Amino acid sequence: MRIPVYGYILGAVTIMLTVPMMMTWEAPPMDTAQVGYRGTGMELISNPRLVAKNAAAVEIPEAQEPAEKSGDKASDVYENVPVLGDLDQAEFDRLMLAITEWVSPEEGCGYCHSDENLADDTKYTKIVARRMLQMTKTINNQWGEVHAQPTGVTCYTCHRGQPVPQNVWSTNPGLPEYGGIAASRMGQNLASKEVGTTSLPYDPFTELLGKDGKIRVAATTVLPEGTMTSSIQDTEKTYALMMHMSQSLGANCTFCHNSRNFADWSQSPATRVKAWHGIKMVNQINQTYIDPLASVFPDNRKGPEGDVLKVNCATCHAGANKPLYGANMLKDYVTELNAAKSQ
Ligand code: HEC
Ligand code: HEC
Ligand code: HEC
Ligand code: HEC
Repeated sequence: MRIPVYGYILGAVTIMLTVPMMMTWEAPPMDTAQVGYRGTGMELISNPRLVAKNAAAVEIPEAQEPAEKSGDKASDVYENVPVLGDLDQAEFDRLMLAITEWVSPEEGCGYCHSDENLADDTKYTKIVARRMLQMTKTINNQWGEVHAQPTGVTCYTCHRGQPVPQNVWSTNPGLPEYGGIAASRMGQNLASKEVGTTSLPYDPFTELLGKDGKIRVAATTVLPEGTMTSSIQDTEKTYALMMHMSQSLGANCTFCHNSRNFADWSQSPATRVKAWHGIKMVNQINQTYIDPLASVFPDNRKGPEGDVLKVNCATCHAGANKPLYGANMLKDYVTELNAAKSQ
């Protein structure tokens, strides 16, 4: 019998060459930063070359010159300023310059304002911006201690010089179902970039970041005893969200979990608690601030199901464990965007 040796060798070489290309391997050496107890492997693993490249690509606009107070409250000078009326007029004007640079640098003041009258509310963008001001204040003061501080959040954290932030989501109806024996995709089985190019459910967001859906899926007792109520689909949705969270933060699962027991909080590092508050915060952003704007946004700004484009972890984090790699832009706008008063 003849053994096709060359065939085997050729096959082996082909596999050796294509496997690394298919899997997104990164060459060592890697950096590790410990986040949990020593020896438990709970750490942030990062590729220093990639981080340097990504961090260098992040542009941080310079803060506007500090305003010299005018002594007049904005509400005494201007007509229609229910949200920012308490600011000094000079601070108010300075903030208008800043939000123009953060959100609509090319379009200018006219992106939100009508040319004739700055007090007009005719453009939908101004109504959205007013709500976004309230939202940003809430993020900084209500969620500051448990999540966003000390780095803090400004419009730029999400917008980065564009009217529509780059990383947003809306309810994804997916492709039409197959016919025949594999009739239903059950919202999955398509490699999706939202969930790390796996074929896990491609829209974990509608339920888990838009409706406070249930993320915990592990049973808490050995036998079912009624506590184990999660289906395989629920579990897959949880894993899909976890893929998104890892990808958004540029972090491994072990940044937030002890891999011998993913569910146990007592073995998890503090970063997981921050992430838990992050999930609650994102649900509030979407439900309280963004979804109700559906009647204000024009149709061309909405997703295929007619809902407004919403926020997930990537909207702020964009691949970094701290948005903008921890650059603190809020410090120059504390009175404007972190005042205790917000709704
Ligand atoms: C991204 C949207 C946006 C941009 C861009 C913008 N503004 Fe505004 N502006 C607002 C909002 C929202 C208010 C109302 C604030 C409130 O409700 O307290 C406002 C209010 C004002 C007012 C008060 C008018 C009045 O009498 O009620 C002035 C003046 C103003 N803006 C000037 C400017 C200038 C000048 C620029 C460009 C440098 C600018 N704005 C860019 C959103 C914007
Ligand atoms: C947490 C992320 C986040 C922050 C912070 C944020 N925004 Fe937004 N913004 C969004 C999302 C998401 C949309 C929805 C995009 C869509 O549907 O077009 C949006 C839309 C807008 C729009 C409408 C743009 C358009 O062309 O339709 C304006 C104007 C705007 N934001 C202004 C602001 C201002 C001003 C601030 C700061 C006070 C701010 N945003 C802070 C996430 C954010
Ligand atoms: C940024 C932090 C973070 C990262 C990264 C992360 N997780 Fe999670 N994970 C959490 C938090 C927070 C919860 C709990 C959510 C809750 O209880 O509402 C959780 C819950 C889970 C659960 C459910 C536990 C239960 O109680 O049933 C599983 C399973 C899980 N994660 C697996 C993973 C896997 C696998 C990865 C990597 C792909 C990962 N996680 C990455 C923070 C994280
Ligand atoms: C509105 C913007 C925003 C959104 C949306 C957001 N975060 Fe954050 N997050 C921040 C800021 C700002 C920090 C930095 C806090 C600091 O300076 O320590 C942060 C920090 C964190 C940290 C701690 C990182 C570290 O190195 O200490 C974790 C973990 C985290 N976020 C998880 C999440 C998860 C998971 C989501 C999505 C469910 C999320 N975040 C959504 C703004 C955001």
